[in-house]
Amino acid sequence: MHAPKPKWLNDAVFYNIYPQSFYDSNGDGIGDLKGIAAKLDYVQEMGYTAIWLNPIFVSPFRDAGYDITDFYKVAPRYGTNEDFAALAAEAKKRGIKVVLDLVAGHTSLECEWFQQSAKPEKNQYTNRYVWSNSVWDTDGNALISGYSDRDGCYMKNFFYCQPALNYGFKVITRPWQLPMDHPDCLAMREELLNVMRFWSALGADGFRVDLASSLVKNDPDGEGIIELWNDVIGRYKVEYPDNVLIAEWCHPKRAIRAGFDIDFLIHSGLKAYTTLFRYERGTSVNDEFNSGDSYFRRAGKGGLTEFLNEYLEHYNATKADGYISIPTGNHDIPRLSLLRDTEELKAAMVFLLTMPGVPLVYYGDEIGMRYVEGLSSKEGGFNRTGSRTPMQWENGKNHGFSTSDTPYLPTDPAEAAPTVAAQRNDPHSLLSLTKTLIALRKAHPALMADSAFDVVHTDYPFVYKRTAADETVVVAVNPSDATQTVEIPTPGEVLLQSGVTVENGTATFDAVSYIVYKI
Ligand code: GLC
Ligand code: CA
Repeated sequence: MHAPKPKWLNDAVFYNIYPQSFYDSNGDGIGDLKGIAAKLDYVQEMGYTAIWLNPIFVSPFRDAGYDITDFYKVAPRYGTNEDFAALAAEAKKRGIKVVLDLVAGHTSLECEWFQQSAKPEKNQYTNRYVWSNSVWDTDGNALISGYSDRDGCYMKNFFYCQPALNYGFKVITRPWQLPMDHPDCLAMREELLNVMRFWSALGADGFRVDLASSLVKNDPDGEGIIELWNDVIGRYKVEYPDNVLIAEWCHPKRAIRAGFDIDFLIHSGLKAYTTLFRYERGTSVNDEFNSGDSYFRRAGKGGLTEFLNEYLEHYNATKADGYISIPTGNHDIPRLSLLRDTEELKAAMVFLLTMPGVPLVYYGDEIGMRYVEGLSSKEGGFNRTGSRTPMQWENGKNHGFSTSDTPYLPTDPAEAAPTVAAQRNDPHSLLSLTKTLIALRKAHPALMADSAFDVVHTDYPFVYKRTAADETVVVAVNPSDATQTVEIPTPGEVLLQSGVTVENGTATFDAVSYIVYKI
């Protein structure tokens, strides 16, 4: 049985803040928690109801903090645990929830648990990570050999510096693979729950779980991992029923069944996201942006069939218990603005903020921040670094991000780099549209997460109905450059429109246009 979804999710709009790049309060060149607190006015002014922070914990930052050394402590560069509690309290006063990143699958090599685990002498951490029982058993080169004097190889979860925590194996094929109910694997589960309780007591309103499906090994149909999360989330929700659990799984049917409230549709796993925004994910960023075939492009060469097939299958199977979130972007993929102009971004934003489920705006996407090309890799970012540059608040030094002469990453060097200051008072800016859409979503039950979704017309334009108890809203978006003429339900009150004229039930859509109206 799935715990009831928290009610506040129905009109929630998340804002994803990459802590190192948001606002630097003390001039050391790196964003921090006090900096985020200082910008809560902005978060509130935009209408966001929740923020998700990428990892803020002690780390050597070889994967931007997704390599944690101490799960119970804020990284000094971001502040202290007290600073986190203060930020959460300050946010709460404004009705803003604060969600943390839970990196459940692995730690940093420098984590004390791993250092103990790597010792040849048996100790309480010996089985905390997945190790083979001989340095020569690399499981077909899947494991890392020769790290320490422990005779065995460790399993990595992502980069080599992120050893996999041991929650057990569903299917056991080698003697060193422990079953999920091994006491040491169960002890790891308890530790995970403790981490969740610890931050919740300090004010966290839930977690986004990193690589949520990765915890149980040799688990082809996901039954092991679903069982694990049902147990962990089930027990957590007894204590914190109003808190949210968001999966980075990209398989809503499994994630919601596992007890999560929300799962992201992103670049990994299902194809749905990439057919809308990036047609194929290749091995480098270049492969991704060379294709012009995604749906939300002026070129108009994309289609909705692949997206809708997958989306509707997962949406219909999960809508009773949870939500799908299609984010504007994240710290792992090129910015939405890559190869899109402001008008194309507006069309995408209209779609993203009027779909069912819970929308999420990646910091800076509301002003169309660019994917900054040509940067050297920072803290394990590699081609992701260009999507992680500091927030551009205003013109001037570091775009108002920091007073430092050596910010940890430069801001966008482009002359026309977008800023909050320039867009805030411009009614035609992407920021203003984003703000308007968030306000519409909160004012109209039909546009909220739970309300029904019915497709009216596919391909160009995309027309769909959103329906609540006593309100129906139609959304129609033409991201393509070609004029389109289609029949649409007769408009009542128009809530938002650009480039669409309606006469006798027939609508003419100019290039890159949209309309949102009640019927
Ligand atoms: C997730 C994070 C990514 C990180 C990886 C390993 O995909 O979003 O940034 O590198 O997990 O933790
Ligand atoms: Ca700082």
